[in-house]
Amino acid sequence: MSAPRQLFVTTALPYANGKFHVGHIMEYIQADIWVRFQRMQGHHVNFVGADDTHGAPIMIAAEKAGQTPQAFVANIAAGRKPYLDGFHISFDNWHSTDAPENHELARQIYRGLKANDLIETRTIEQFFDPAKNMFLPDRYIKGECPKCHAKDQYGDNCEVCGSVYAPTELIKPYSALSGVTPELKHSEHFFFKLSDPRCVEFLEAWTQRVDANGKLVLQAEVANKIKEWFSVRTNADGSTSEGLGDWDISRDAPYFGIEIPDAPGKYFYVWLDAPVGYLASLKNWFAQGGPKAKHGDTRSFDEYMAAADTEQYHFIGKDIVTFHTLFWPAMLKFSGRKTPDNVFVHGFLTVNNGEKMSKSRGTGLDPLKYLSLGMNPEWLRYYLAAKLSARNEDIDFNADDFMARVNSDLIGKYVNIASRAAGFLTKRFGGQLTQAFDAQGAALLHDIRDAADGIAQLYETREFGKATREIMLLADKVNAYVDQNKPWDLAKDTANNEALHQVCSVLINTFAVLTRYLAPALPELAKAVQAFLGVDMQDWHSATGVASITPYQHLMQRVTTEQLDALFEAPEHTELTQAAINSVANELPGGETIAPTISIDDFAKIDLRIAKIVNCEAVEGSTKLLRLTLDVGEGKTRNVFSGIASAYKPEELVGQLTVLVANLALRKMKFGVSEGMVLAASHADDKAQPGIHILTPWPGAQPGMRIH
Ligand code: MSP
Ligand code: ZN
Repeated sequence: MSAPRQLFVTTALPYANGKFHVGHIMEYIQADIWVRFQRMQGHHVNFVGADDTHGAPIMIAAEKAGQTPQAFVANIAAGRKPYLDGFHISFDNWHSTDAPENHELARQIYRGLKANDLIETRTIEQFFDPAKNMFLPDRYIKGECPKCHAKDQYGDNCEVCGSVYAPTELIKPYSALSGVTPELKHSEHFFFKLSDPRCVEFLEAWTQRVDANGKLVLQAEVANKIKEWFSVRTNADGSTSEGLGDWDISRDAPYFGIEIPDAPGKYFYVWLDAPVGYLASLKNWFAQGGPKAKHGDTRSFDEYMAAADTEQYHFIGKDIVTFHTLFWPAMLKFSGRKTPDNVFVHGFLTVNNGEKMSKSRGTGLDPLKYLSLGMNPEWLRYYLAAKLSARNEDIDFNADDFMARVNSDLIGKYVNIASRAAGFLTKRFGGQLTQAFDAQGAALLHDIRDAADGIAQLYETREFGKATREIMLLADKVNAYVDQNKPWDLAKDTANNEALHQVCSVLINTFAVLTRYLAPALPELAKAVQAFLGVDMQDWHSATGVASITPYQHLMQRVTTEQLDALFEAPEHTELTQAAINSVANELPGGETIAPTISIDDFAKIDLRIAKIVNCEAVEGSTKLLRLTLDVGEGKTRNVFSGIASAYKPEELVGQLTVLVANLALRKMKFGVSEGMVLAASHADDKAQPGIHILTPWPGAQPGMRIH
């Protein structure tokens, strides 16, 4: 056998300012199918991801949340696992662009570019927010459109008339952060000189390179689009484009990012250090000893990256092509590194014909909600596999289509092969298979095995839809064989025992081969089949026949309309599901997700006060409530009902200090009016983790003090 390929594979690094949506999951599933396919070929894959943590939007979101950017992105990172595990994504490592490896690698690369005389400083004029004391990115400047005079338009284009302009052209500009009028200020910025002839020459060649057969290496539609960026041309509005321009890679403090060496107060623009995060995550994986443990690879990270046979691939969406086909290869090349072998660009996923933005149907397809409804993650993997191609066209998740493909194709055509044959084998033949097949059966099995190379080629070239179609056509052939040989008829007469044994044995063997073909998309199902048939499902080339089976257990349920209805139900009707979502993500703090971000102003609306419990008594007619009499330093006491009777006896509480929400609207209850609410902690799932714990301040706090 030839030496295994050495593959370094990544997906785009998601911004650490929100949860994953189904578009992210689609990208991970696409890459994961490819990676699992390569592993089945015996190749050595290092498959890594990371959070993209830097930049102004994340810094601003963190500030609004009252957190440091570090704490903010750590919180996002902590929520990734339920998605990645839930959809069976087999990343070897997940890291962060704010990790030390990335700081170091980004600076190294920058120094390499500088040593090659490709960094230049220029003074630019930019809007500055005097209230926030920061330069404003275009998207944080608003004002009146200079063309159509629509109000409140963004700094780079008008959403009303569609014209594009510089933020300095806006009439009555204001800062979207503080509302004040921004001032134009000078600042020194660092540029990566992409217009340098060395860069232009390299990139034209790199983006248009062809393989041994004269075929473009990049996807044709991607390569052709890029071609336009190199040419000097006249635009529709009469202006001319210069070809490749220099790239502004610096931002001024305050900025959450990596400081530029020897340039205090200057930071790398987030898109400079973001792709470096691919290397940082891989380096961290090497530091953990991952490649050694998995593949016996004892090389260092640097040796691995420099090796001639290391192949580097990035899966990305069509919106971030420039960064990956121009800036990133040039950064690598001119800092003395190898360049990526390819960038695989996919289109966008929409949901129910782009209905994902519709309020009435909720927020589209929420991945954690999908899991919480007990929907099988491999349904989605199969469905996306069936729709994906090597082109960067958009694809749509359509609920009816989803149900048809899963129930009719995956289960109806493929899973049923096993369930139709297994019962007879177990009941009539002690689970043993015969190897003496009838001629038709032997020919069928031969045909199905023969398809291996063609299907492998489709996986290799990311034509997953075609691969899936091919596999379903094979399943159709198997089902035709079932219909001709009718095992249920054969079973009626023991004189046909041998024929029944043969037919069922052929079926189980074809099922084993089909399972192997589907294993990149359906890894957990393949595992279950491996236990059922006792043959290896992870080795693409395995030719071992099945000798015996264990009793058949359901391999996969059908999708129900109830599940799909619940999945797309608007959120207000899904309180029950929220609890279930939390139970999926079992690493969630206290059993529930952190609530959506509020501003410090939102928090300030809640008036929390230290309260002394001067009296406490049981409430007649209620097993849940206690009646508290509280002193909040107002010269009168308050009456508050609290649902803590299961946890405290009244006499335990009298004389204690606690925390009261003092400005809550009065609440009329069956037993009287409640004038506030006492704070207490509990786990979201009170059955799994019972207990209510009221809060008490540290000694020294006095009734009436406000909590800030
Ligand atoms: N942080 C950058 C990428 C840096 S890579 C060094 C970014 N993040 S993102 O969170 O906005 O997007 C991450 C990936 O998800 C991108 O490849 C993007 O194209 C992809 N998708 C975002 N929405 C998508 C769909 N609706 N469908 C498919 N992919 C989508 O860009
Ligand atoms: Zn306009």
